[in-house]
Amino acid sequence: MQVVTTIAELRAQLAPLRQSGRTIGFVPTMGYLHRGHEALVRAARQECDVVVVSIFVNPLQFGPTEDFESYPRDSEHDRAILSAARADFLFQPAVEEIYPRPLVTEVAVPELSHSLEGRTRPTHFKGVATVVLKLLHIVWPDRAYFGQKDGQQVAVVRRLLSDLDLPIELRVVPTVREDDGLALSSRNVYLSPDERQVAPLLHKVLVRGREAAQAGSDGPTVQAAMEALLRQEPLVRLDYAAVVDPDSMQPKHELTGRVMLAIAAYVGKTRLIDNLVLDL
Ligand code: PAF
Repeated sequence: MQVVTTIAELRAQLAPLRQSGRTIGFVPTMGYLHRGHEALVRAARQECDVVVVSIFVNPLQFGPTEDFESYPRDSEHDRAILSAARADFLFQPAVEEIYPRPLVTEVAVPELSHSLEGRTRPTHFKGVATVVLKLLHIVWPDRAYFGQKDGQQVAVVRRLLSDLDLPIELRVVPTVREDDGLALSSRNVYLSPDERQVAPLLHKVLVRGREAAQAGSDGPTVQAAMEALLRQEPLVRLDYAAVVDPDSMQPKHELTGRVMLAIAAYVGKTRLIDNLVLDL
């Protein structure tokens, strides 16, 4: 695996590969890689000739009181994982390489960015949309790989690609979970042993929500049931439980077709998110 830190070098390396007809798969990450990221890299490896992974903790998508500085980083561990998963290129730029001067251009998908995550993290998706568009322009892949775990991010990226006519296929890879259902996340490392015991509740509640939806309950009823279950656990502070259309992020009343059940909750001080997409 080749490690590249500048945009110019990555472009120079990828151009001849692209010209010779090789397909390029791209997995954008913020590092501190786990089995969820490995699943993205594996999917890219299966479908593409060349696999590029980026590790860039993007300051633009963190709010002023969020964990940008303390976001977990472990470059050596990440490189070992990526070599084992047979990534071809690791693009690991410094912040100054991606943002050499303050941006005056904004990339935003406001319709999809203000609900759910956007209520607590109002600038988050502008930061995500901006960096994702920049990274896609740098790598110019045939396919880009994102995890379903960040369901709203998937909706934002899908709409960005479609609205801006980017000829890049979006591949969405299912959430990878621990045996007890907890969705893998780099932030799980923040959980104390007691909190770790409680954290699978998010997934359990989503499963209960799915059962209610499959039994014919409507959106508000499923949402209220999920909220009530989460409020019973003293170590959990609910941010939201929602029943939405997975593309528009709008609340759904009649539960037919594709439906996303989504939860965000603090377990202790750690904010966790999870979701399930149903086809009803
Ligand atoms: O999902 C993430 O890790 C980040 O939001 C992404 C897509 C790498 C953009 O910084």
